[in-house]
Amino acid sequence: MDKLIIEGAHKLQGEVRISGAKNAALPLIAATLLTPGWHVIHNVPDLRDTRTILALLETLGAEWKKEGTTLLINTDSLNKFEASYDLVKTMRASILVLGPLLARLGKARVSLPGGCAIGARPIDFHLQGLNNMGANLALEDGYVEASVVTRLMGGTVYFDIPSVTGTENILMAAVLAKGETVIKNAAREPEVTNLVDMLTSMGARIKGRDSDRLIIRGVKSLKPAVVTTIPDRIETGTYLIAVGTAGGEANVTHCNPAHLPALLEKLRASGLSIKESGDSILVSRQARVQSIDIKTQPYPGFPTDLQAQLMSLMSLANGLSVVSETIFENRFMHVAELKRMGAEIKINGNSAIIKGIEQLKGARVMATDLRASASLVVAGLAARGVTEISRIYHLERGYEDMVGKLQALGAKVHKEKE
Ligand code: EPZ
Repeated sequence: MDKLIIEGAHKLQGEVRISGAKNAALPLIAATLLTPGWHVIHNVPDLRDTRTILALLETLGAEWKKEGTTLLINTDSLNKFEASYDLVKTMRASILVLGPLLARLGKARVSLPGGCAIGARPIDFHLQGLNNMGANLALEDGYVEASVVTRLMGGTVYFDIPSVTGTENILMAAVLAKGETVIKNAAREPEVTNLVDMLTSMGARIKGRDSDRLIIRGVKSLKPAVVTTIPDRIETGTYLIAVGTAGGEANVTHCNPAHLPALLEKLRASGLSIKESGDSILVSRQARVQSIDIKTQPYPGFPTDLQAQLMSLMSLANGLSVVSETIFENRFMHVAELKRMGAEIKINGNSAIIKGIEQLKGARVMATDLRASASLVVAGLAARGVTEISRIYHLERGYEDMVGKLQALGAKVHKEKE
């Protein structure tokens, strides 16, 4: 396993180009299962997770090739319908093949994803929704066995919580179903809208784009897609917070500021200078940041995927901050590691109280999940001394060439074998 070595307390300076969004590319790639032909997806990031879902599609019979960041996928010879435990256990988002396989082949056998570091991550909403659409579902030896006699039927699906991949799975099942499907309390994340746009380009009939109520009128067949992956708003937020924490100034390019309403508000409130212009954001920190409170919410609220990174920034703020995590039940794994770097954080249920200090100290820390590892990188960039982060395969799941991008910003960071 590899580790990251960061010599901290160097201000960041320069430009960083944002890649396509991991959490958009995954459903876009899954949606190519819906119809044969060559699909074209632009701006696809090269990540551990995108390589995993492409490997999964290969086991189902798909073929693909990449030209730069443009991905071409052909699912003509889709001859299998099983997503094995070995693949699914490495990436929960593999569950996204369930809806399209059912819609295209009328059957699917997908391993239950199992939990992960940040929570139990159930998929009951996905299964309930497909059941409402006429799918027969059984759980056998840790697999979801799904089938439908003739064709999925349109139905009404209500999400207690606006599940992102739940909305995406039902969307993909509904576009080829017979009749109309209504998704109530649908997730409104930009990644869901990116999928709506892809499906619409394929001939799907979807109303309610960007809203919490999606109405899909099923069609008999679809044509291959041509779609561009949206910029990664979580990668964008991670670099904005990194500059705010380590200090300096950077221009973050090829991003979409409109996808980060809550974060930009909060960073400005902390005292950072944030200047938006088109698809770039100029961020800089002049003085010590002020403490702020955040509460994670579904989009357009503050994203849970930026909670850990923001906590690193607040550990150096002037004053007390309260960070409340309302989406996942165990998303404070980074706190113990940040405390090893001197951060003063108290956990109280689903809230963490951070008392800002003057300086973090480098230490040996361990990554536990994707965004917790990002928060440790952010802290390491600001800390005095050297920080060693082990198990950085977590990081490589969701950040394309992070070491290269940070080095281009003047960070003293490199990778070493454990
Ligand atoms: C997506 O996960 C993202 N992953 C996550 O990003 C992100 O943190 C999350 O949405 C919330 O924004 C992808 O898009 C691939 P949910 P997802 O279903 O869809 C509960 C990252 O770091 N729930 O919106 O799995 C669930 O337990 C990852 O990039 C059920 O109870 O999240 C959670 O409390 C981490 N039953 C809440 O809903 C279900 O059937 C929101 O989960 C589904 C979800």
